[in-house]
Amino acid sequence: MTKMKKVVVIGGTGLIGSKAVKLLQDAGHEAVTASSRTGINAYTGEGLADALAGAGAVIDVSNMMSFDRQALVDFFGTSSRNLTSAEKAAGVRHHVVLSIVNADQLAANPYMAGKLAQEEAVASSGQAYTIVRATQFHEFLETLAGAYSANGVVKVPDIDFQPIAADDVAAALVEAALGEPRNGTVDLAGPERSSFESFIRTYLDAKGDARPVHADASVDYFGASVLAGSLVPGGDFIKGRVTVAEWLKA
Ligand SMILES: NC(=O)c1ccc[n+]([C@@H]2O[C@H](COP(=O)([O-])OP(=O)(O)OC[C@H]3O[C@@H](n4cnc5c(N)ncnc54)[C@H](OP(=O)(O)O)[C@@H]3O)[C@@H](O)[C@H]2O)c1
Repeated sequence: MTKMKKVVVIGGTGLIGSKAVKLLQDAGHEAVTASSRTGINAYTGEGLADALAGAGAVIDVSNMMSFDRQALVDFFGTSSRNLTSAEKAAGVRHHVVLSIVNADQLAANPYMAGKLAQEEAVASSGQAYTIVRATQFHEFLETLAGAYSANGVVKVPDIDFQPIAADDVAAALVEAALGEPRNGTVDLAGPERSSFESFIRTYLDAKGDARPVHADASVDYFGASVLAGSLVPGGDFIKGRVTVAEWLKA
């Protein structure tokens, strides 16, 4: 049996963080729900020293939504530097951070530039770490369908897609945090790979939305030009279990 651990979940009130907190608690571990609303702020450093005292691991699933590249790079880079410094000072053994598959190849997209700054800050911190890079969440399909809609048509990039359920992401992060640091990156993706177009079609059909969906090779990924494999793992990956159909049914 795994020894009971204290794990601090930065972004513990969010979609992934709240699931990770519950999984940790259900398994008998002490989970700290950390977010600016709970007085623990990764960007300013407020409350970090107290929250990290006695912790064995940190899971960072904090987030900032913006289209401003500099603001994103600053938020993710500064937060990661603050967290890893505070962890080293507190003697925390393992920093686990959630990033995105192929973030390094997609840095023309401002959000990916922020995630890359986050990864670089963690990897150069001297703190033991695991970077878990996930594909897009099933829960993100609605946002994607909306973002690619114009004039009654949904026009999406002509690329592969392999989304993963938030439940599977949270489970993989918890497993990583309770394990040994990899001091490297691991990819995480859903159980099915198909075209971006087909996943959006499935999602819209389930919502009773008959708008046409077309794949178009000239459509980019929010500022980053993409190739067929840009959003899917290029090699080994941890496979999630929940299909989009199962998630839609639930
Ligand atoms: N969407 C996708 O498909 C996808 C794919 C792969 C990876 N990811 C990554 O998944 C991660 C988690 O996403 P999510 O959807 O779970 O996010 P979310 O629901 O938006 O939650 C974000 C969390 O971050 C907290 N937060 C924001 N600023 C903070 C700060 N300065 N200090 C501490 N906590 C802070 C928020 O709480 P407060 O507001 O109270 O601070 C909230 O708990 C993100 O890093 C994202 O890049 C997303």
